[in-house]
Amino acid sequence: MFKMAIVEKFFDSKEALNAELSASLEKSLVAGIEADGRATLLVSGGSSPAPAYKHLSGLALPWHDIDVAMVDERWVDATHEKSNEVFIKETLLQGYAKEANFITMKNSALSAVQGTAQCEAEYQKLKQPFDVTILGMGPDGHTASLFPHADGLAHGLTTKELVCAINAMQSEVTGDITERMTLSLNGILNSKVIKLLISGQEKLDVYMKAKEKADIDATPVSAVLHQDNVLVEVYWAP
Ligand code: 6PG
Repeated sequence: MFKMAIVEKFFDSKEALNAELSASLEKSLVAGIEADGRATLLVSGGSSPAPAYKHLSGLALPWHDIDVAMVDERWVDATHEKSNEVFIKETLLQGYAKEANFITMKNSALSAVQGTAQCEAEYQKLKQPFDVTILGMGPDGHTASLFPHADGLAHGLTTKELVCAINAMQSEVTGDITERMTLSLNGILNSKVIKLLISGQEKLDVYMKAKEKADIDATPVSAVLHQDNVLVEVYWAP
């Protein structure tokens, strides 16, 4: 049995979850700036974090001292409607938060594999450990772009680099775009705290199973749960 460092924050409503999450993100960023002069926020796509991003964008924080970097990205143009970059710009990097320094994953390389070295070099410039990393989880047990049985998953779980290229097995969850850049497991765990956001009964069941049994190839989120180096706060609402 692996050790775990999980705190479950289960709420009655998404509103209550978003209020606590927003306040706690603000606290982490302010603490990071106070301690080191800069803070690093790693952000995921997905519907769950959007309300907290919108809330944060309206806070008068010293955003020029905050680096916002991506947890994962589809290997598509930065203007593509499915790119997480577009999503982060539309939700978080508005209002006051426009002043943040945004580090993206997609670069001009023809493939994610070929783009890895440049992306890694950019991520190595960030303050480490990151102050806070926001993860989502899919109904297939993926987190970041660590997808079940993906091409590149074994490397992503073991590499000491922060980022890696993944080619997921196509499914309803991945859609057509299976080529991704993502934080590796090492990159995910290179954070003072991880916020794992999940909602609904189906995902709660997936999470509970992943917590019970570490079948990492089938349910990669297990790798984040079955370790005790970094605190994982699991945010759930119906
Ligand atoms: C993707 C999605 C995906 C998403 C999770 C959680 O890149 O395929 O962004 O990873 O983050 O499926 O989604 P929700 O936040 O909508 O639950």
